Amino acid sequence: MTAHEATAPTTAVPFSARLRDETRDDHERAESSPFIVAYMAGRVPVDGYAALQGQLWFVYDALETSARQLREHPVVGPFLDPRLDRLASLDADLRRRVGDDWRDRVRPGDATRAHAEHIRELARTWPDGYVAHHYIRYLGDLSGGRALGSKARKLYQLEDDGVRFYRFDEIESPKEFKDGYRRLLDDAPWSPEEQARIVDEARTGFRMTQAMFEELDRSVAAGASA
Ligand code: HEM
Repeated sequence: MTAHEATAPTTAVPFSARLRDETRDDHERAESSPFIVAYMAGRVPVDGYAALQGQLWFVYDALETSARQLREHPVVGPFLDPRLDRLASLDADLRRRVGDDWRDRVRPGDATRAHAEHIRELARTWPDGYVAHHYIRYLGDLSGGRALGSKARKLYQLEDDGVRFYRFDEIESPKEFKDGYRRLLDDAPWSPEEQARIVDEARTGFRMTQAMFEELDRSVAAGASA
């Protein structure tokens, strides 16, 4: 190694940074969806909060049933840390907020159903692309999701069941966890073309999430005027 090589700054942008940067606008749009803005401003009634959790259940059902089938996948498997699993927490929250019979009462909206179907289809046909959806949900939950959780605790006076979804009791340091996840993204053997497809897929995931928020916004507004 020459002296020049030893000191040359590395210019390659890690994939995790590209993924974050190239989805920044989509993130901003999701964050400023009317439903999320209303929620953060304390204007979503507790039924609207339960409706959000109900829709999320279908998305996490698709993510986590697919994860069980992909745990042995050489590239995708390491992303699928069971400490992330949210389905049991959502079930406990929905039992508390909607009732033990919530499965009979909560139905996915069209946008939610399409999103869940899309995740299952990717897990079958292009598991590496499935990671894009895993990333937007779980890294989001470990980031801004924490703000959503503390809002729910304050607004609806919920502790434990009701807000379990937002608590990752088994992950001591979300920051360290996210750093490890980013290293997996950086080390995955994806070609530049496949990386570009994964960025596109993450953008699709953000758009599908936003469509779900729009559906929720309409249903909460309809409930309020009913
Ligand atoms: C009120 C709504 C939201 C707020 C306040 C928020 C806030 C944040 C903040 C502050 C970070 C940066 C954390 C860090 O640097 O470690 C972040 C990261 C992230 N958020 Fe959100 N967010 C919101 C909604 C969402 C939604 C709806 C999604 C997608 C479904 C999402 C997905 C993500 C992802 C994937 C990251 C990780 C970016 C990365 O480091 O690669 N967020 N969010």
